[in-house]
Amino acid sequence: MALATKPSLPAHRRIWKAPITTAWWIWLIVSLLLYGIVYAVYLVAIKNQSFPGPFNDPLRSFGILSFLLVLSTAAYSLRRRFARGLPGMARDWLWMHTWLGITALLIAFLHENYSHILHNYCQSVSCLTQSYWGTSALLALLFLVLSGIFGRLLDSWQARVIASDASMNGVGIARALEEHILELEYTVERLSAGKSEQFKAFCLQALEAPGSLPSKMPMLEAGENVDFQHAYETLTARASLEQSLQKQKRARLIIRSWRAVHNVLACLALLIILFHGVMELLINVLHLIKPL
Ligand code: HEM
Ligand code: HEM
Repeated sequence: MALATKPSLPAHRRIWKAPITTAWWIWLIVSLLLYGIVYAVYLVAIKNQSFPGPFNDPLRSFGILSFLLVLSTAAYSLRRRFARGLPGMARDWLWMHTWLGITALLIAFLHENYSHILHNYCQSVSCLTQSYWGTSALLALLFLVLSGIFGRLLDSWQARVIASDASMNGVGIARALEEHILELEYTVERLSAGKSEQFKAFCLQALEAPGSLPSKMPMLEAGENVDFQHAYETLTARASLEQSLQKQKRARLIIRSWRAVHNVLACLALLIILFHGVMELLINVLHLIKPL
């Protein structure tokens, strides 16, 4: 039977190869330039100001900039899920997501002059809630960005696991494997039809235990040897493909689990950052509401 694979291309090129595109460079250069400029302004400020901190500009504006960068980073979700018509490939948006996310964190460090991170360490839990949860916002962003970096590494590692398995199993990725395994099972069923009870029991036992074959050989009746040999080879091939399928499924599950964790972290972090950013904007920047 024809399988749903395209043997003309190596599996890793067909499925997983995500090359570094121009977008990778563009967003890296934009981020480096932005951070370079902000850092230069920061150096001048800490040299000239007696108490450089998030209350005064320019460090306060760094908070606003970091806030905007966090929102831009989160816009990736918009492109991926809700507004797929937006220009550019999702992969290019992911590079924007990656570099702007890291830059947002680096600028947030400058916003509060590394307080609670490199000096002036938190002594009590109230430190997390003062300044409208400023420190919590920073820590949430830190964990989110670390989770993003970890996830990207995990993603490329697991993608490599799938690619190398797909190129070695002779069939390809999970869907093709499932179809091929089904085809092998039909073959075994055809071969065992009308055969002795032991022949059938052996095949059934092998089909019920994916990935392995029963160790005890059946007592065959006369004339069954050739078909049994064929069935045995088919079952062996199926067991090996089953192992390959399990390996690929495990790799996908690892990637999916990480995504779920990153998504939950992103929602929590965005809530805290939004709270801090909006409160500070309303109270200390626009003076629209008075502090309690
Ligand atoms: C609209 C954007 C933002 C504005 C206007 C802003 C403004 C401020 C101001 C005025 C303060 C000090 C005043 C106070 O004690 O209330 C502050 C503190 C702080 N902000 Fe922001 N900020 C913004 C975004 C951010 C972001 C995105 C982060 C990090 C994710 C952040 C992290 C912090 C931290 C860690 C502190 C110091 C908290 C402390 O020492 O207790 N800010 N911010
Ligand atoms: C401001 C910081 C960040 C925010 C707010 C954020 C938020 C998000 C959100 C909401 C998603 C889910 C997208 C969706 O499925 O709709 C996501 C996915 C993802 N993020 Fe982040 N993230 C941040 C930083 C990072 C960083 C620094 C990296 C990598 C170094 C990263 C890597 C990823 C990856 C690989 C995905 C999965 C992409 C996909 O499955 O299409 N994130 N992020």
